[in-house]
Amino acid sequence: MSDVEALHDTILRWYDATARDLPWRVPAEQWPWPEVDRPWAVLVSEVMLQQTPVARVEPVWRCWMQLWPTPAALAAASPGDAVREWGRLGYPRRALRLHAAATAITEGHDGVIPANVQQLQALPGIGSYTAAAVGAFAFGIRATVVDVNVRRVEARLVTGAEHPAPSLSAAETRLAESLLPVADEDAARWNVAVMELGALVCKAASPDCGKCPVVDGCAWVLAGRPEHDGPRRKVQKWHGTDRQVRGKLLAVLRGATGPVPRADLDIVWHDPGQRDRCLSSLIEDGLVEALPRERFRLPA
Ligand code: ADE
Repeated sequence: MSDVEALHDTILRWYDATARDLPWRVPAEQWPWPEVDRPWAVLVSEVMLQQTPVARVEPVWRCWMQLWPTPAALAAASPGDAVREWGRLGYPRRALRLHAAATAITEGHDGVIPANVQQLQALPGIGSYTAAAVGAFAFGIRATVVDVNVRRVEARLVTGAEHPAPSLSAAETRLAESLLPVADEDAARWNVAVMELGALVCKAASPDCGKCPVVDGCAWVLAGRPEHDGPRRKVQKWHGTDRQVRGKLLAVLRGATGPVPRADLDIVWHDPGQRDRCLSSLIEDGLVEALPRERFRLPA
């Protein structure tokens, strides 16, 4: 067995023994919800999981699958319904992106999610990460899926750096491609296995090297776990940010049954300049609709 085959074997065995049972990971043969379109379920999960932990995603994902088990079901709802049911997941433009993708799948692909990475990426709101993830996890296509967890595991294991660079480089993509198993079925499991290793063991702030199945071959550990010496890593702030204010404004609109007067929005934040800027940006993003006489609602 070559070194890379041994690595595959070790990480895939670790995944089989350790991985969390998450509903969007149930294989097609065992899919328990006949009315729910599995590729659609995978697509929705991948968009929700971007920058959002599993524990927050799971209840919202279950609610979406009940309401909208197929792309056509979501396409028949309004974009505002998608934003309302996005709840407090954050980065709510993702709800609009899913609505736009559902509409394109319904109108351009007869409601069937294409089993092809290029066609997936051509859908509105679907970038290269999501196209690769849906290709791999919904259809078993041998695509390289590189999220921040994968990047961190591969940086430590192979490059010996504690953290990857702020944005994905061509060298990292090549590294991830070179590590991908040749067989389709192993490749899809490998992608999710490395992601899971990054989420559960090889964590950003507190890696559990004692639990790592590949610690003996880890370049970062062998180098003595040197401290990060790249550019300062971004910390995602929340309190007082426009993201927080936008969230408060949207929460009022989500809870309302009809159009909301400006006064009901004014009470959520003390700083009128920041509040107005945030409301304008929500309108600009298509997350809020401005009606005559200073009333507002989620987009119809
Ligand atoms: N399983 C499949 N895709 C995933 C993701 N993006 N994050 C966590 N678990 C996953």
